[in-house]
Amino acid sequence: MKILIAYGTTDGQTRKIARFCADRLTDSGHAVELLNVSDGGDIDIERFDAAILAGSIHLGEYQKSLEAFVTTNLPKLTQCDTLFLSVSLSAAGDDADDWAGLKKYVDDFSRTTGWAPSRVEQIAGAFRFTTYDFFRHWAMRWIAMSKKETIDPHSDKEYTDWVRLAAILDDWCNGLTP
Ligand SMILES: Cc1cc2nc3c(=O)[nH]c(=O)nc-3n(C[C@H](O)[C@H](O)[C@H](O)COP(=O)(O)O)c2cc1C
Repeated sequence: MKILIAYGTTDGQTRKIARFCADRLTDSGHAVELLNVSDGGDIDIERFDAAILAGSIHLGEYQKSLEAFVTTNLPKLTQCDTLFLSVSLSAAGDDADDWAGLKKYVDDFSRTTGWAPSRVEQIAGAFRFTTYDFFRHWAMRWIAMSKKETIDPHSDKEYTDWVRLAAILDDWCNGLTP
């Protein structure tokens, strides 16, 4: 099948996740196109049988570029099978309030864009201290401390569960209608 993977990223972890998805689907025999939504450009979604969209949460919101991409392509997105990968640090833990927040962010995104993905998965992201500017570095150190996470502020810490993500992809692909 022809599958589009469109992603928004701020610090790079969602790009890594999107590339992992592309490799996995390509290895399974699918034709995959990977698109960073901030690169813009016209893409004809009708060429695809299914689409994965991925974005990360920053201060309670996904990338504006992802929102614009979904809004622009809404009629075509609603006609094909879609999987939304929501990347965050809240998904790395089991705090009930954090998980309620994750559900709200997806609901808000759906309400703003009008898009109801066929399937939504919450994916744990990463601390990327090697890419943060001064403000973000200290903000993320404070968040790590408040969550009692042990981090090295000079290196990245990844929480993404690649085995789980592979299983999600395989399961989603098995459910696609040719
Ligand atoms: C400034 C900033 C704000 C963030 N806000 C949230 C948030 O509100 N909720 C959350 O669960 N994670 C939050 N995160 C964590 C990111 O979602 C996580 O680091 C993710 O892996 C980022 O993906 P990206 O590298 O593709 O941008 C935040 C990260 C940064 C740097």
